[in-house]
Amino acid sequence: MPTIQYAGRPGVLDLSWGHPHPDALPVGDWAAATGAALREFGWQALAYGHEAGPAELAAWLCERLTVTDARAPVPAEVFVTAGASHALELLSTQLVEPGDVVLVDAPTYHLALRVLADRGAELVEVPPDPGALEEVVTRLRRAGRTVGLYYLVPTFTNPTGVSLPDPARRSLPVTADRLGLTVVEDDTYRELAYDGPAPPSLWALGDGAPVVRIGSFAKSVAPGLRLGWLTGPPGLVAALVRRGYVDSGGGVNHTVALTMAAFGRSGGFDRHVASVVRRYRGHRDALVAALHAEGVACPVPAGGWFAWLPGAPALPAAEAAGVSFLPGRVFFASGGPDDHVRLSFSMLGPADLAEAARRLAPLLRAAGPALRRPSPGGPTATRRRPSPG
Ligand SMILES: Cc1ncc(COP(=O)(O)O)c(C=O)c1O
Repeated sequence: MPTIQYAGRPGVLDLSWGHPHPDALPVGDWAAATGAALREFGWQALAYGHEAGPAELAAWLCERLTVTDARAPVPAEVFVTAGASHALELLSTQLVEPGDVVLVDAPTYHLALRVLADRGAELVEVPPDPGALEEVVTRLRRAGRTVGLYYLVPTFTNPTGVSLPDPARRSLPVTADRLGLTVVEDDTYRELAYDGPAPPSLWALGDGAPVVRIGSFAKSVAPGLRLGWLTGPPGLVAALVRRGYVDSGGGVNHTVALTMAAFGRSGGFDRHVASVVRRYRGHRDALVAALHAEGVACPVPAGGWFAWLPGAPALPAAEAAGVSFLPGRVFFASGGPDDHVRLSFSMLGPADLAEAARRLAPLLRAAGPALRRPSPGGPTATRRRPSPG
């Protein structure tokens, strides 16, 4: 059994993995934060935790969100999770019944599609547009279907790197409220903003609208911590606290959550985020510049880890040329269209990214967008190897 999920392939510069650069993982700083948390909290650091997460982390997170978002939650609106994926799993268990329809943006984070599909939901693609949402919800409900959730990543989206622009960002919570939908806002990339602050979250703009925002420390600090959070109505937080396994386990990741509180309060988190933002901005710039130098237009993502380029080169040909990526179709619940590629610039350094761009550019130039090609098995059937994230 291997130790980690990532599996490199000799000779292939692999831009498919949404994983951090190994040097960006704060091994020494985390060891120091662990020691500090054990000294500060003593035996309580190793006890069963408070079910919604330790008060110290909730308090620090509420402060942090005054810096990175337009509205800070109060602790009663915060629930600490074992990552954003776990937040989504919890929400789908709490709010979705097998056979329900869950609406999803397209393209969107491919592994969220799998989490929702695991719950037995039918996934229906809708863009975050009031008219389209109203039309689809009305049609489905007339057909007797239960439609309760709308999932999207509105800020530095996986896979496009783009953020939902302002008019739609402001109107979406209002539309959701009117239609009786809960928006699940995946806000995993908020901290990784390269050209100015991230736009305000739907949760902040909605101010009481039915929006649950999920966040993560996987990209800002380290995915192996399995630590994230959600902000939502206090009634939802209270319902999650009452879940048997949350009660039985005393929260879901208490010791790591307390360590994050110590890391945050010491200023370590701020320093680390500043350094990873510098690093990944440099990665982005190296990839974009190398593609431009090769005559390939690349939209410049203002945050996150991904660039989304038109074109559909064949993956085997790309891998034979020593470069890999994720084909665009995996980010659609319907399995298509196959006319873009997602390039992740997180895991490789600038020199490797520039070389990957040189290998990929001729293939991107040569391959036009392919025809729509629905995948018979939906999102799970389109995966070619374990979870590149
Ligand atoms: C949009 C999005 N949400 C969630 C995750 C997973 O987050 P976590 O590691 O906190 O479960 C990822 C990771 O790639 C992601 O891109």
